Amino acid sequence: MSADPGQPGAWHGVAAEQAEGIGAGLAALLRERSRRLLADLLGSHIRPVALTIALIVVESLAALAGPLLVGLAIDNGIPPLVRSADAAPLIVISMCYAIAVATQAVTTRMFVSLTGRVGQRIVLELRQRLFAHCLELDVAFHEDYTSGRIISRQTSDIEAISDLFEEGLDSLITAILTLLLVGTSMLLLSWRLGLLVLAGFIPLTLLTAWFRRTSARVYRRMREAIALVIVLFVETFGGIPAVQAFRRETRNAEIFSALGQDHAMAARQASRLNAVYGPSITLTGNVIMVVVLAYGGLLTIDHDIKVGVLATFLLYLRRFFDPLQDVSQFYNTFQAAASGLEKISGLLEQDPGVPAPAPSVTLSLPAAGAGRRVRFTSVRFGYRDSAVLPGLDLDIPAGQTVALVGETGAGKTTIARLLGRFYDPQAGRVTLDDVDLRRLPDEVLRSEVIVITQENYLFDGTVADNIRLGRPDASHGEVEAAARAIGAHGFVSALPSGYDTPVGKRGSRLSAGQRQLISFARVFLAAPSVLVLDEATSLLDMPSERLVQAGLRTVLSGRTAMIIAHRLSTVAVADRVLVLEHGRIVEDGPPGDLITGNGRYAALHSSWNSAL
Ligand SMILES: Nc1ncnc2c1ncn2[C@@H]1O[C@H](COP(=O)(O)OP(=O)(O)O)[C@@H](O)[C@H]1O
Ligand SMILES: [Mg+2]
Repeated sequence: MSADPGQPGAWHGVAAEQAEGIGAGLAALLRERSRRLLADLLGSHIRPVALTIALIVVESLAALAGPLLVGLAIDNGIPPLVRSADAAPLIVISMCYAIAVATQAVTTRMFVSLTGRVGQRIVLELRQRLFAHCLELDVAFHEDYTSGRIISRQTSDIEAISDLFEEGLDSLITAILTLLLVGTSMLLLSWRLGLLVLAGFIPLTLLTAWFRRTSARVYRRMREAIALVIVLFVETFGGIPAVQAFRRETRNAEIFSALGQDHAMAARQASRLNAVYGPSITLTGNVIMVVVLAYGGLLTIDHDIKVGVLATFLLYLRRFFDPLQDVSQFYNTFQAAASGLEKISGLLEQDPGVPAPAPSVTLSLPAAGAGRRVRFTSVRFGYRDSAVLPGLDLDIPAGQTVALVGETGAGKTTIARLLGRFYDPQAGRVTLDDVDLRRLPDEVLRSEVIVITQENYLFDGTVADNIRLGRPDASHGEVEAAARAIGAHGFVSALPSGYDTPVGKRGSRLSAGQRQLISFARVFLAAPSVLVLDEATSLLDMPSERLVQAGLRTVLSGRTAMIIAHRLSTVAVADRVLVLEHGRIVEDGPPGDLITGNGRYAALHSSWNSAL
């Protein structure tokens, strides 16, 4: 992770994000993968979704009946009452009205709770799928795709999709149905008035098109600003020690406030747009209403239409314009959801760079306490553009401890990562007892090979919890025995609650050396057949290293080990030393032999000695 959000490189992911945002919107939903994901999500809830749509249709029909019944009451219910005190027709009409209203209330209640339930289930499913998928993606992927972006996927993007299910879909279906049904009814009631309304609809359509276009831009800017804010947040507070150490506070605060201003400006624009659009729709609607009232009034004089029909028409008219407001509101929800769906489906489509084996093989049980043979055969590997290992051949017999030394950047860590299968080689193979790592199931590989670096990660929990991570079913006695074996028991018992002392976030309550000892105890408990230590003891001071040294011998006995180190004392435990230069092994032999020569290791050795 780059700790410096001010550098152009750090914004690489963000630029990609913006590019993704451009051209989003309606078109985005048409993208194949978004559509597939949506169909997939809805597919398993097909019945409740169909039921919801049916309920909305019934609700819209019931709503449509209201004005019709009012018109009927005026034309056919009231006249008999006035003429001959016959209340029956009006009572019947009123009862129908009551039924329509009740139906509307019941169906609304049903579909609102149904969409809520289905929507939340789908969102939960998506959340879980996304989380599980991100866990499966390889280290190389996560180095590129910042945590800030993953957070955005899990929060704002999922929220947008949730909004779509919660409020968007039903208002869209209702709006479309209302426009169709009410429009048709109006034309049927009076084609002259209907055409008049349709003519008035033209400016409304233009206004809506303009609003949609402009607001799409504004809302996209708001979403982008928020995404950038999250990325900046994660980078700033994830790297807070570096931010403070290098006095980046002011700069980061400036970047933050610029992003905030960007968001505020877009939000202001959005509210200005809404302030123009909403009242304009209402005004146009009312003007049409006045025209219809005047023209309709004239038509009633000539007995072309009845008063009740005019009343029905006017009531429908009110209803006709409401959805337009909904649709534009919905359009933003829809856009946000479409772009969220597009990004999420993109992430879900990412294949892990280190795919699971098919078919997989398991290893035979190793000879007790012997470790496993590790072999690199013509391994070629590089990161994106740099070639790190041009073709590595290396054979480590079972049970051997090799020390890998070489200058910074020589490729030592890369070898460790290949052995732990955080990456796969581009050519050649890495094998464990002659089985390619790519053919081993994840659980087998993780229990056979353990890589320890200096950034050993402790989880929030107690000391015992963290040691037990090595073998979750270990008893307290076994946890303590592991700690004793590597020499950690002393400091652990001195902690306020011994093994039950919480280690704090990422082990912040312990020193680096103590954290390292705990990670050794963890490995001791896990008992892998191959152990890789990548500068694992380099954070320790001399006395603690001496302490660890003893523990290290215990951990190393009976397994194959690769120790990457730049300290003499660590290399001393090795049976064999490999000197790496630009990804090639340039010296290979027992430490005793190499020291006496005048090769690179001898030079390295004497420089270490003089440093002491
Ligand atoms: N994640 C990465 N992405 C791109 N290049 C990398 C990455 N990790 C290491 N490198 C490059 O690969 C080379 C070898 O790095 P590494 O194996 O870490 O060396 P060492 O551990 O010997 O110091 C270096 O030139 C380094 O810049
Ligand atoms: Mg390294």
